[in-house]
Amino acid sequence: MRGPALRGRFRPPGDKSISHRAFLFGLLTCGETAVEGLLEGDDVLRTGKACEALGAAVERLAPGRWRIRGPGLGALVPPRDTLDFGNAGTGSRLMMGVVGGHGVTATFDGDASLRKRPMTRILDPLRLMGAEVLAEGQGGRCPITLKGARDPAPIVYRTPVASAQIKSAVLLAGLNARGVTTVIEAEASRDHTEKMLAHFGAEVRVTPEGAGRRVDLVGRPELRPNKVVVPADPSSAAFPIVAALIVPGSDIVVEGVMTNPLRSGLLTTLLEMGAGIAILDRRVEGGEEVADLRVRASDLAGVDVPAARAPSMIDEYPILAVAAAFAAGTTRMRGLHELRVKESDRLAAVAAGLAAAGVPHAIEGDDLVVEGVGAPPAGGGLVATHLDHRIAMSFLVMGLASRAPMTVDDVGMIATSFPAFRPAMERLGATFE
Ligand code: S3P
Repeated sequence: MRGPALRGRFRPPGDKSISHRAFLFGLLTCGETAVEGLLEGDDVLRTGKACEALGAAVERLAPGRWRIRGPGLGALVPPRDTLDFGNAGTGSRLMMGVVGGHGVTATFDGDASLRKRPMTRILDPLRLMGAEVLAEGQGGRCPITLKGARDPAPIVYRTPVASAQIKSAVLLAGLNARGVTTVIEAEASRDHTEKMLAHFGAEVRVTPEGAGRRVDLVGRPELRPNKVVVPADPSSAAFPIVAALIVPGSDIVVEGVMTNPLRSGLLTTLLEMGAGIAILDRRVEGGEEVADLRVRASDLAGVDVPAARAPSMIDEYPILAVAAAFAAGTTRMRGLHELRVKESDRLAAVAAGLAAAGVPHAIEGDDLVVEGVGAPPAGGGLVATHLDHRIAMSFLVMGLASRAPMTVDDVGMIATSFPAFRPAMERLGATFE
């Protein structure tokens, strides 16, 4: 991808996390759930298919507008076939929570990337609630056959890592438990499940506990159908934002970006680096804070990113590493152990991409250190994407402004989260070769 200065306005696709949850709550709510602004990426569509397999009627009315008629809590049907989640960690793990607490048996599988991802972090609490794992791949990985508990035990669970997926799986199973299910997290992770539980009428209480939070959910609520309006995904917005920062002369507006503080770590970090980002027209859409972001090309400076910020920008480190490669000075990103178990080992994949682009860097324990010289890096390398959409998009963005263009070995999986990435970037002025 190459290009002159980027110009124009652009609305990123719907948030992936909220889109998955919109389908799942549609399944668990008896009646009609309307969704607007759904991300029609492969990951989310697979969650939709899985909801159909469990008894929901799922209908696309118009681009981004969907209707789900769910059987509701306790009325799920056992799926006839394997639930194939493709590349989708979130979809598969949240659905394990649903199945684990709802007395049905289902087999979960996916692509080569999903088959490498750890699932015991989800299966462990579900076992405590009474679910049984009937079959699993090596090391508790997919393919996994899970027999859900008919009458799940309400538990108090401390998540071993800050993970919204673990928290959400336990809460979704806890929806069908008699009594209060509690999740305690040492660091707060994204809170979309808690918000959506409240939006659909469940009794859920969130209280600060140390640096983290405690979530208490009263089981077996009468979920009420509701409309879900999906805001623009800050994790997808990250790519045009960094592109505009590094391509000289750029000036773009990214519209309707969700600014939920538990998702805004990248924005905080880029502002600390000296990014020219103006936050305009702050408002609330669909229960989430959103804003338009005007982004102008900027001279960036290296910063120290604390480990405590990781949960609020866990998916944004690959593109932050790209920004850091153009910044003057050292950027140290701390506490990135969770990056090793994403769609790829992102710590290794980012380091290999930086090496391919001639950017000095090091992995020191769980930290990634990038040495920028305040000028475009050489570029010109070939990046192995390992079926990871965010690795592909990050290094394509780097290629917009590195001295030689970057090449990635695969772009097919970009459709999991940002199907219109290429046309959207082209409209802003980028060129793909
Ligand atoms: C997500 C949680 C995060 C994130 C993923 C989406 C979610 O994963 O990386 O892309 O929607 O709950 P973890 O919970 O594993 O940190």
